[in-house]
Amino acid sequence: MSYYSIAIDGPVAAGKTTQAKALASRLGFVYVDTGAMYRAFAVHKLWLEKEIGEEIEVERALRTFDLDIVQDENGQHILIWGKDVTSQLRTPEVSMVASKASAHSAVREALLKIQQVMPSMNNVVMEGRDIGTVVIPNATLKVFLTAKAEVRAQRRWKEQCSHGVTDSYEQTLALLQKRDYDDSHREIAPLEQAEDAVLVDCTEMTIQETTNVILALWNSKAKRGGMN
Ligand code: DC
Repeated sequence: MSYYSIAIDGPVAAGKTTQAKALASRLGFVYVDTGAMYRAFAVHKLWLEKEIGEEIEVERALRTFDLDIVQDENGQHILIWGKDVTSQLRTPEVSMVASKASAHSAVREALLKIQQVMPSMNNVVMEGRDIGTVVIPNATLKVFLTAKAEVRAQRRWKEQCSHGVTDSYEQTLALLQKRDYDDSHREIAPLEQAEDAVLVDCTEMTIQETTNVILALWNSKAKRGGMN
């Protein structure tokens, strides 16, 4: 039996999470956030470094990385060594370490194995940077979701403020631009639009309008019988 999949790729803070969750809930698909897996690795590496008191190599941290992903009615939970770390994933420090670690082939290979199991067992909406290009190259629908950097930084900054992070808007914009650059210039599985992905620029759109655009793409795919 084959399953349906929607791949949502795009740069930092384009709204991938909001859209992927909305689509998953609307279509009854499993929501999978692959960025959270890279972030989990970053949390693990930072923990180890705190324990040891010095910086350690990515390959060494990977040896003791024990990741579990649990789905429940509240969505995806990320466990390291059985401990739920979902609430620790979104700090600026974790973002930077995750971005750096994601350029390492050993990390990508380890996470790719886990990521590819999910669409083989469920209908999924999966978000990340390389879903349409590497993780599910035969996804039923591929969307490349983007927006102007200033608009994305504004959204991310507001989100961070509500979580008590004190970075200024300018710092948030600079970090976002650095991550955009790093994500799209790394050698392995860089952030890029798959040839058969549909570009959705949501700079001028509300959340609901963006969801409607993607749902319309999904429905037209279904009508044309273009389901893989
Ligand atoms: O989507 P995010 O910001 O939570 O992702 C965190 C980092 O992980 C991001 O800098 C790029 C990396 N990432 C990746 O390389 N490939 C993915 N499929 C998902 C995320």
